[in-house]
Amino acid sequence: RRYDFYGEVGQAGIRTPPQRHIFYMTFDLTSPLRRDLQVLLARWSGAIAQLMQGGTIGQVEPSRPNATGFDTGEALDLGPASLTVTVGLGPKVFTDTYGLADQKPPLLRNLRQLPSDDLKPELTGGDLSVQACADDPQVAYHAVRDLARIAKDTGAAATRWTVMGFGRASAGKGQTTPRNLLGFKDGTRNIIEEADFEKFIWLKEGGPSWQRNGTYQVVRKIKMHIENWDTDRIGDQNNVFGRFKVSGAPLTGAEEFDTPDFRKQDPGGNLVIPATAHIRLAAHENNNGLRILRRSYNYTDGINEIGLLDAGLLFISYQNDPAHFETIQEKLGASDALNEYISHIGSGIFFVPPAPRKGSYIAQEMFT
Ligand code: HEM
Repeated sequence: RRYDFYGEVGQAGIRTPPQRHIFYMTFDLTSPLRRDLQVLLARWSGAIAQLMQGGTIGQVEPSRPNATGFDTGEALDLGPASLTVTVGLGPKVFTDTYGLADQKPPLLRNLRQLPSDDLKPELTGGDLSVQACADDPQVAYHAVRDLARIAKDTGAAATRWTVMGFGRASAGKGQTTPRNLLGFKDGTRNIIEEADFEKFIWLKEGGPSWQRNGTYQVVRKIKMHIENWDTDRIGDQNNVFGRFKVSGAPLTGAEEFDTPDFRKQDPGGNLVIPATAHIRLAAHENNNGLRILRRSYNYTDGINEIGLLDAGLLFISYQNDPAHFETIQEKLGASDALNEYISHIGSGIFFVPPAPRKGSYIAQEMFT
């Protein structure tokens, strides 16, 4: 499959049904010059448009033997592989340094300190984000690699932190629900309807008009203590989520898509979906109707310094107000039974401008 980078609404890679792999990278701005940032966004946009069509960003093997290839070449012959590259702008973009303070998306700010935070500085922050998703991991990697080269070449930005995810842990329209590394189906009750995207994801008002149909991206690198998890009894695992592991059904139902009954009690008067169950705390029924789009991926960093499997979830959510993420995460951080098995070790927040129109580039209007 091939997706278009240019468009009328949000950037590709948000509504797009999640592809199998991700390569996610954040960058620090290294030049104080507005012009350098502008050139970077323009060059990235041109490159991304070509990459998403399955093309290269320039010559791989120039005819002059003493010339350097522009495209690194490792995605030749692999096709577009459903590649989408989604670019986000962090808080530092919208400062006086770049003359862009008056263009700041109204709700863009650093996230509040949250109860679950165990954030490592080297996995946190960033001034630009690049989310490359594809059905072939090499296609995703190639895209980010070549964008990182452009960043270096312009002198505008340098790599900050990165995660390579190998399996989707969220579902879009028409997709079967995949599993996260705790073995549970993840993405059962995600946003899929157009009306919910309009209501909860795309920005419709506030801020400069070029921001319409933009959205906010929150990313969290969440480490899972999978070896502890693997020794936990199945009844407890099911209670942690409030769902059955194999079927994905809520503990009050029989099928995956049955609506959870959060009031149901067993004959002993105990809640069937426990008070500390992840889905009870996160569900829109228990959060004044709030919903976020989850577009997460499983990741592994191999083994850690004491020989334990090092893996987790690259949690990515999109919402038209970052406070929606914070509201849910505040509840999860305080009481989620899952907390015993996870740590939030990385974090970032970015404004994701709408898709550029053909002939323009990402956020072009903010420079005019
Ligand atoms: C639901 C796993 C972190 C928000 C679920 C479900 C699973 C799951 C298995 C049930 C299936 C579904 O409806 O998708 C995890 C794991 C996490 C994690 C393993 C961390 C490693 C988070 C975070 C948030 C979040 C950080 C947001 C702050 C939600 C929401 C639902 C959900 C909104 C849907 C609840 C419902 O409507 O029933 N998660 N999750 N999750 N999760 Fe998480």
